[in-house]
Order: sequence, then C-alpha cells, then structure tokens
Amino acid sequence: MSYRIAVLPGDFIGPEVIDATLETLEALAPRHGLAFEFERLPFGGNAIESHGEPLPQVTRDAAARSDAVLMGSAGGPVGDHPWNRLPREKRVESGILALRKHLQVFANLRPVRVFPGLERLSPLREERARGTDLLIIRELTGGIYFGKPSFVEADRGVSTMVYERYEVERIARVAFEAARLRRGRVTNVDKANVLDVSQFWRDVVVDLHRREFSDVELDHLYIDNAAMQVVRDPRAFDVLVMGNLFGDILSDLAAVIPGSLGVLPSASLGGSVGLYEPVHGSAPDIAGKGIANPVGTMLSAAMLLRHGLNEAAAADGLESAVQAALLESPTVDLGGSAGTAAFTAAVIARLA
Ligand code: NAD
Ligand code: IPM
Ligand code: MN
Repeated sequence: MSYRIAVLPGDFIGPEVIDATLETLEALAPRHGLAFEFERLPFGGNAIESHGEPLPQVTRDAAARSDAVLMGSAGGPVGDHPWNRLPREKRVESGILALRKHLQVFANLRPVRVFPGLERLSPLREERARGTDLLIIRELTGGIYFGKPSFVEADRGVSTMVYERYEVERIARVAFEAARLRRGRVTNVDKANVLDVSQFWRDVVVDLHRREFSDVELDHLYIDNAAMQVVRDPRAFDVLVMGNLFGDILSDLAAVIPGSLGVLPSASLGGSVGLYEPVHGSAPDIAGKGIANPVGTMLSAAMLLRHGLNEAAAADGLESAVQAALLESPTVDLGGSAGTAAFTAAVIARLA
C-alpha cells in the first residue's frame, strides 16, 4: 500500500524530530509492504517568513487531500519575539488552531503511558508510576480557544468560553467509545462548581451517559483537583475527557509522569483526515543542539499508522522498537545520553 503523508515540520526542534521520524518510517515501510510519499509543507514561523502567513493555502490544500498529516511543532521563543508581536490572526499559534479547524479534528487523543521497565524515568516514585496507562481526550476545536467575543483593547482583554450541545456530545461520545475498548471508565473533568459553561458541559455528558453509555463507569472531577489526582495516583485513571483549555494544561502536567514532555504523542481525529503531532512545542531553548527527543513524534507516527491508515501491525512494530530503544539508550531529557541521531539509530536497529 502506498500512502501520501502531508508533513509539516514547523520550527526549531520541529524539523529535527520530524526528520528522525521520517527516517524511521522509511526503515519501517518495506518490512510491512508499505510505501510513503512525504510532502513537506511550509507551516508556522518559517511560513510567516516565506509566505506571509503561518498556514499558507498550499499547506491547507495538501493537508486536506493527504491520507494523514504529520506535524512537528511550530512557534517561536516564549519571550519577546517578532512572531509574538503580530496581530493575533497572523500568529503561529493561530495557524495551528486554523489547521485543526480546517481539518475538523475536534477530538484530541493524548495517551500517557509508563512503559514496563521504564518506571525509573519517572520523577514519581516507581511504584506510583508503574502501570500508568491513561488517555486524555481533549476537545480541540471549541471552547475558549475559539469563543466570541475575543479582543484586546486599551484597558481590557476578553476571551469567551462557549460550548454548544453538539460539541460536548460528540467529544463525550468519543470518550465513552474509547473507554469501551479499554478499562470501561471515564472521568469527566470540568469546573462546574464555578463556570456555567462547565455546568452545561457536565449536564450534557451525564445525559448522554444515561441514554447510551450506562455500561461505562462515569465519574467527575473539578479540574484543580484532577491536576492533583493525576500526579498523586495516575493509575487510578482510564479515560479523561475535558474541554480545550483544561486538556491543554492537564496534558503537559501528565507528561511528567513518563518522565518528559518529549515522549507524549497525540492524534487529532473527527474529520476525514487526521492530524498527528507530539504534545510538546518547538523548544527553542534546545533547538540545534541535537538533543531533541523524537519519541513524541515517533509515537504520533505510530498513532497515524494505527488510526489514520489502519496499519496496526506497522504501528505495533514502531511502538515496540521505540520502547526497546528507550530501555537501552534513554534520551538526554530522560537523564540518558542519547541525542536525536543516536536514539533514532537505536530505534531503527530494533525494528523487527
Ligand atoms: P515547549 O513544549 O516547546 O517546551 C517546554 C520545555 O520542554 C522546554 O524546556 C523544552 O526544552 C522541553 N521540551 C519540549 N519538547 C522536548 C523534546 N522533544 N525533547 C526534549 N525536551 C523537550 O513549550 P514552550 O516553551 O512553552 O513553547 C515554545 C513554543 O512552542 C511556543 O511558541 C509555543 O506556542 C509553541 N508550541 C507549539 C506547539 C505545537 O506546535 N503543537 C505545542 C506547544 C507549544
Ligand atoms: C498544544 C499547544 C497549542 C494549544 C498551542 C501552541 C496553540 O500548546 O498543542 O498543546 O494550546 O493547543
Ligand atoms: Mn499545550
């Protein structure tokens, strides 16, 4: 089988982790009778420089007609930088949001797993980290990221959190269906004790559960407590579902459980073409040093194989090789000494 993958490397470490991942996919392909056609496209800060906008039309079009989209990470340094002074709609981050909207990928799956034998990489005590296998399901095309009105004026800044019934229902449905294929538990995370939008969210989740998913166990946590519980006892969780902003924050927090933000993958689904990207950003602080961890992107590519192309055997093969490489040559951010190139070679050497 031959597949056309739209590749959006992005900025800073984005191209580094993408190159490592494409190299690995090239090595994997013949073992599973696959062929990939990678189309590299301008996206992010580099596209602002070359095309005057973060998500140029050429990239929109190629992404929409691909079999799947693989993205690195985009964005500039967090402090003062010309990209951060552009009008909101011209900024890199608006390009990321526009891509998600364009592909209609409302469901962002962010699995967090501590692989057997790798418990020592966690900053948590080994017995607390062992066996962690949770799935954060983040609503991705609504909530405060997109609500109107949204503006800055001289003495005031305004953003609006809105959720429509259909938006909550469809993401809750994804969570319940995912739980049925896992351990049958969903934890809904909201702030219903304070926010009207959250009370509405919760009511819709509870109603859908009662009507269609009463076989799934459902409980609820407020986001502040959820942040605490996820690091205190990550094994207590199966599927967690939440709105856009809460999911953004909770997924970076959960990333410390396996040991580094660099290892977390994601899949964004719901439209006809899926978007696969690591959870981390462009990490300007380590770019160009050869130490970016490509695991989050490699595992995102595995999710692409599994969810986007239905190539489960290839996905399994890639995941196993990444796990085996992590056991023997952990990356710098995980306290090991393998740089991007050495780690990539280790993965390729372990492909079955
Ligand atoms: P970041 O995720 O880029 O970095 C946070 C910390 O984690 C840094 O210390 C970084 O060195 C480390 N880190 C991240 N990925 C790593 C990896 N693969 N290997 C080793 N260490 C890694 O977050 P930030 O600094 O807040 O954001 C930097 C830029 O990235 C901003 O412009 C932000 O808007 C953007 N961003 C983009 C995406 C995306 O493209 N989807 C996601 C998050 C942030
Ligand atoms: C993420 C990032 C993005 C988000 C930003 C860079 C737009 O933090 O993918 O987690 O907030 O969704
Ligand atoms: Mn984030």
